[in-house]
Amino acid sequence: MINEKKLEAALKDAIDKTRKNIARFNGKFPHVSENEVYQLNDNTDWTNGFWSGMLWLSYELTRDTSFREAAVRTVESFRERLESQTVLDHHDIGFLYSLSAKAQWIIEGDESAKSLALSAADVLMKRWRPRSMLIQAWGPEGHEENGGRIIIDCLMNLPLLFWATKHTGDVRYAEIAVHQAEKSRRFLVRGDDSSYHTFYFDQESGEPLCGGTEQGYSDGSTWSRGQAWGIYGFALLYHFTRDKRYQETSIRMAKHFLERLPEDGVVYWDFSVPFTSDTKRDSSASSITICGIHELLKGLSNGHPDRCVLEEGIRRQLEGLIEKYATIGKPDAEGLLERGAYSVRGNASPDDYMIWGDYFYMEALARLTAGHKGYWYEL
Ligand code: GLY
Repeated sequence: MINEKKLEAALKDAIDKTRKNIARFNGKFPHVSENEVYQLNDNTDWTNGFWSGMLWLSYELTRDTSFREAAVRTVESFRERLESQTVLDHHDIGFLYSLSAKAQWIIEGDESAKSLALSAADVLMKRWRPRSMLIQAWGPEGHEENGGRIIIDCLMNLPLLFWATKHTGDVRYAEIAVHQAEKSRRFLVRGDDSSYHTFYFDQESGEPLCGGTEQGYSDGSTWSRGQAWGIYGFALLYHFTRDKRYQETSIRMAKHFLERLPEDGVVYWDFSVPFTSDTKRDSSASSITICGIHELLKGLSNGHPDRCVLEEGIRRQLEGLIEKYATIGKPDAEGLLERGAYSVRGNASPDDYMIWGDYFYMEALARLTAGHKGYWYEL
């Protein structure tokens, strides 16, 4: 495993930068960077929960109340966002509210944060389309292109639904999550353990149509961040359902991912792209995958035949991130990880800081140094 001192130093560097960023961001939320400066917004994007999650993690790891104060302010912002229904007409409600309000509930047992996260689960339920039996990722109901479209990223939004069933006793949340999980397993994951980013279904009949992509190289390629969402998403699905098929899917997807690691341990943005010296990486896909594999390992016996390859996969990737991609040694950097790719295909921040890359890197370090498990579920 990685030298503990190196992990602790990396985590300290991450927390120090987060502390500096509270003043820099001044109540706004970071998204992705341009010329090494984070673009900020007023809590109007799908990524805003990651900043909350970094503040909560930093608070839990240090008990420095300035982190708590900043984190609580973000939860208040998420309350206003829900009340005004600002940019919530998409599936990413789990990313937004799991790491903000649900995190506050997990850490402090705050009842108003719990009720906010439960209201968010109701917002996510509005994305369910009963005719095609799926959670629509993007766009309004009936939208010609997106009305019957699921995406692999959505797996990370399902924990909020399982949690809502646990706290309300209403089984509909978990039932819908299981329908979505099963559709994702059957149609987004291919026979060779690679994945489609998205899949289309007929909006009326629910009949499966075809796979496609939005951020990958081509419709049939494997977008590495999509594969990462799948690895972590199915590992979490195993946690909630104890259905071995989800554990097995996560293992298979993880092995497919690890077999494609370049020399320095950090993946290219898509596994099907022709690799040249200019090919972009996606450090955020690697940080997500480290957390997903760490979660997956919790459910495997010591003698499980894949344990060694998965543990080695964590080591190679995290060492690669710490040594070659982290901004350690650049104390004024805003981001924690260089070379994330939002959308190479769309030429949108193809080689920049991504706030979710930073969040999962911090979660990975917290998992390995302090046994943290993120805020996707509670014990
Ligand atoms: N969930 C959107 C992305 O990974 O870019």
